[in-house]
This record gives sequence, C-alpha cells and structure tokens, in this order.
Amino acid sequence: MTNETPLQRQTPDSLMLHGFWYRALPSDQVRRRQLTPALLLEIPLVLGRDRQGQPFALRDACPHRGMPLSCGKFDGAEVECSYHGWRFAAQSGQCTLIPSLVADQKLRVDRIYAGSFACQERDQFVWVFVPQPAPVGAGFTQRDDAPCPPPQVETFSSYYRSAYLTAELPCSVDHGIIGLMDPAHGPFVHQAWWWRSRHSIHEKTKHFEPIPLGFRMSAHSPSSNSAPYKLLRMVADADSITTTIDFTLPNLRTETIRAGKYWFSSLTTVTPLTRDRCRIDVVAAWNLFRSVPFAPALLKFVFAKFVEQDRRTMELQSEGLKHNPHLMLIDDADRPAKWYFGLKQAWMQSQSSGEDFRHPMNGPVTLRWRS
Ligand code: FES
Ligand SMILES: [Fe+2]
Repeated sequence: MTNETPLQRQTPDSLMLHGFWYRALPSDQVRRRQLTPALLLEIPLVLGRDRQGQPFALRDACPHRGMPLSCGKFDGAEVECSYHGWRFAAQSGQCTLIPSLVADQKLRVDRIYAGSFACQERDQFVWVFVPQPAPVGAGFTQRDDAPCPPPQVETFSSYYRSAYLTAELPCSVDHGIIGLMDPAHGPFVHQAWWWRSRHSIHEKTKHFEPIPLGFRMSAHSPSSNSAPYKLLRMVADADSITTTIDFTLPNLRTETIRAGKYWFSSLTTVTPLTRDRCRIDVVAAWNLFRSVPFAPALLKFVFAKFVEQDRRTMELQSEGLKHNPHLMLIDDADRPAKWYFGLKQAWMQSQSSGEDFRHPMNGPVTLRWRS
C-alpha cells in the first residue's frame, strides 16, 4: 500500500467483517425474563437469558411480518411475537406455535425459524457470532454452529481480578480501531499532570511481526507510558517486565504484561454497531496489586480517563469527517493502521475468492516514531 491509501474511501461503507464473534452487550445488561434489543453490524438483535441463565440472540424481526421480537413476551423459554402471537424457542429460533392455524391446516410450524445467532458468555460480555449474510430472500433456517469459540482474556494464574469498561464512539469501526493502535496521539490526547505532558515525547523503536490474521508488537519492549506498566514498576523490577500487544481481525487488541509471577492482561474490542457508530469494550484481568492498596481502583480510573479522552476526541473528529475530507496515513506512525486496512482487504479477498488468506506483511518490521 502507498502513502495515499484513500482512507475515506474505505470507511463510508465501512466494510464490516462477517464470520467473526463480536461482543454484543455487557452480561449485566442481559437479564432473565427480559428482552433487550442490541445492534451489531447493522443487524438488529434481541438478546435475553433463558431460565437456565443461558443467553440467546435472535434477529429482532419476526419471520412472519417483521415485528420486532423485542416488543413481544418472554417466559424464560419461548419468545412470543406481539403481533399475531407466533412463538419461537429462544435458543434455536424454531417456531413452536402459530395461534391462527386451525386443526386441519397442515403448515409445518417446526420448519419456520426466527433468525438465530450463536451466542456465548465470556469475561462479562455476551458474544454473538455474525455469520456471512445469507443470500437475499433466503429466509431463515436452523443456524449453523460457530466454527470456533469466542475469544477470551488470557489469564496466567487461578487467582485474579477483572473489570470491564465500555463506551460508545460516534465514528466508524475503522476510525475506532486505528485510533486505538495509533501511537502518535498519546502526548496530545492523553495529557494529564499526573501522567505525562507533551514534553515527554521521545523517539521509540518497536518491533512488529505478522501473526495469523494480525500483527504483534513483540515482547520485551514495555512502553514506559503505559498505565499498567507504571503501576507494575511499583511491585517489580523494571527489567523483568515484558509486554506483548497483538491486533487480530476483526477488532481484537490483546495486551499482556508479565513480571515474574505477576501479570496483567486485557482484551479490547471495537465493535461496529452501524456504519458510523462503534463501541469500545475493554476487559482487563490481573493478579498483581494485592500488595498495593487502591491499585485496582487507580487502574480503573486511569483506563476510564483514557477511554473518555479517546471518545471525546473521536466525537470531535466525527465533526471534521462529516464533510468527507482527504485523509492520509504516514510512515511510520500510521503503519499499523495501514496493516489493519491491508488485513481487512486480504480477508475480504479470501472470502470472496475462496483462496487462502494472503497476509499483507512478509516478515518482521521495525518501526520508529516519536510519542
Ligand atoms: S408479525 Fe410476528 S406473529 Fe405476525
Ligand atoms: Fe488513546
């Protein structure tokens, strides 16, 4: 890819990637006996939790005449549409009753399905698998199982604590993701007297390598500006600290920091809700602050502050983007963003051609920038 990557051409229709798991909602927003609407890749969903506590996800449109199923009733096992009372098994979407049928009308009710999605709970979120869209007019049948389980925060000991943060961003998933991997905004957006100032800018050298469907910022080069790293230095020798940051399609950023028996791990996702709205969700797990009073609260405070600074920045940026200006990506600071677009393109290519995925990186790369 060249420096003139037409970013704006890649964002408006925002190429949302099907065939992956996405975080649909935080678990605590999905309650028993309640139907909760949610949007994922412009697909309206209704989420709920059955009598056993298992979450489920259906397309929020009745297969009869399109009434949102979230307007209906839920008894803990079946969802009843509010328009003509058709009933659907919550977990499979299979129709169980059409009240208007008389005894000798032989319509096979059990062949009718409401659209249904594979749905699993992981790390305080309900994840939904979004398959490749069915051909137009195909209707709904029994769904296929997801090809793999949803991603999960990596943990390295049996005792740990975890917490999550979530914020909606008024921009396309692409701007959300490249904003997350962009090293150059730190000194300007994330200034605070207790943190760093723009004068702390210095030159950095980082090593990257390709990994399946993504890239890795290699271990053993912790950024001295990272929040968990600063806290870790309170309990561990700076030289023993290693950190690894991975990005993988469609939207996953994992960060692992280890220092002897201590570790901190996070999984951040940026999920497309619509073409111009996305949501950032961070789940972090750690075992390291047992000896540091208030550290977890401090960490959450710092993270919440960062996410809010990013959210506010993207809100302002979206004003500028309304008029579809020319944009540019420069080396080296925007190289990860270029890889992201390259990965996306390669994925779309492999999906449409049926050929193998061709990774846009041929090998390890060293990048330098000031931040
Ligand atoms: S629209 Fe749902 S039962 Fe008719
Ligand atoms: Fe940021």
